[in-house]
Amino acid sequence: MKMKFLSTMHGKYVQTTLLNCLLRRAIHDTEHTTDLELTRHRKKPAGGGRVLKNTSIVYSFNAWDNVEWDEEQEQKALEAVQKNSTVTMPDDDKIKFKSDADKFWDSFYGVHQNRFFKDRHWLFTEFAELAPNKDIQKSRNIFELGCGVGNTILPILKYSTEPNLKVFGCDFSSKAIEIFRNHPEFDTKRCEIFVMDATSEDWNVPFQPETQDIIVLIFVLSAIEPVKMKRVVENCHRYLKPGGLVLFRDYGRYDLAQLRFKSGKCLEENLYVRGDGTMVYFFTQEEVRKLFTDAGFAEEQNVIDRRLQVNRGRMLKMYRVWIQTKYRKRQT
Ligand SMILES: C[S@@+](CC[C@H](N)C(=O)[O-])C[C@H]1O[C@@H](n2cnc3c(N)ncnc32)[C@H](O)[C@@H]1O
Repeated sequence: MKMKFLSTMHGKYVQTTLLNCLLRRAIHDTEHTTDLELTRHRKKPAGGGRVLKNTSIVYSFNAWDNVEWDEEQEQKALEAVQKNSTVTMPDDDKIKFKSDADKFWDSFYGVHQNRFFKDRHWLFTEFAELAPNKDIQKSRNIFELGCGVGNTILPILKYSTEPNLKVFGCDFSSKAIEIFRNHPEFDTKRCEIFVMDATSEDWNVPFQPETQDIIVLIFVLSAIEPVKMKRVVENCHRYLKPGGLVLFRDYGRYDLAQLRFKSGKCLEENLYVRGDGTMVYFFTQEEVRKLFTDAGFAEEQNVIDRRLQVNRGRMLKMYRVWIQTKYRKRQT
């Protein structure tokens, strides 16, 4: 009867609709129906909300939160990393990618302009400290390192209702800063952006030490070679007010992006070069903890966000791993 229905109605749309109906029915029959339907419509809570309890319905949704890895999966990931990092790049290439990092990001933005990174929809749920809050009357400063073309700062400016908010942003790619500055929503009254290499010993910034309430590091520390990360974190500590907060989100060890690297792209352990010449490092929670606590910060959050993204058309499972942390400068 199903075949007859399909052949008389023709058309991919009808087939898809029917399949969707059947799929929904199957889901309805599982004990997890209520969970799933709730998570489909409601706003994703911090840390994610859709948990895969029944693996037979994995392809029913595009993504699952807080996915557990078993030992076999961990072992496979380790083997993939060992395989793609056995051969490291020749020394000349290592030097080029590290010392010309800003030029590679310049070409990246020359090609992609502001079309590559999507606005961070999880920004305000994961980091409530950045969310619009009209009750905050006191003046607040937020500084983003590696702000790119504004995918984090622009939503903050757009939704903020704070009367006394000032947002600063820097990037070592002058191309990124130029594109950001030309964005129609760039607001010179509430925002100041400038070119600066975050790894430089003395930051050339338009504000004094101990003046920032929040420093944002979103997918930027991973673009910096590990030996220079300590200095960046120490400078964050210097420019935050006592009690100020660093918000960090970045790639975690064994993220799909790390496992996908081909041999010959590894610069050093867990540091790779993408096809466009930009570098990327994959952190463990412990490494991030050490970086910040060594610089004197107190830990408020250090979580691993394991997400399973599903390509339903191609029946592909993609395991993503991110690290999210909050570190506070102690009151003296
Ligand atoms: C993956 S992008 C993230 C951009 C932005 N944080 C966002 O959320 O859209 C990384 C950015 O870090 C910048 N970056 C990398 N190393 C840097 C450094 N040493 N100093 C300043 N910016 C840097 C790159 O130019 C790039 O814009």
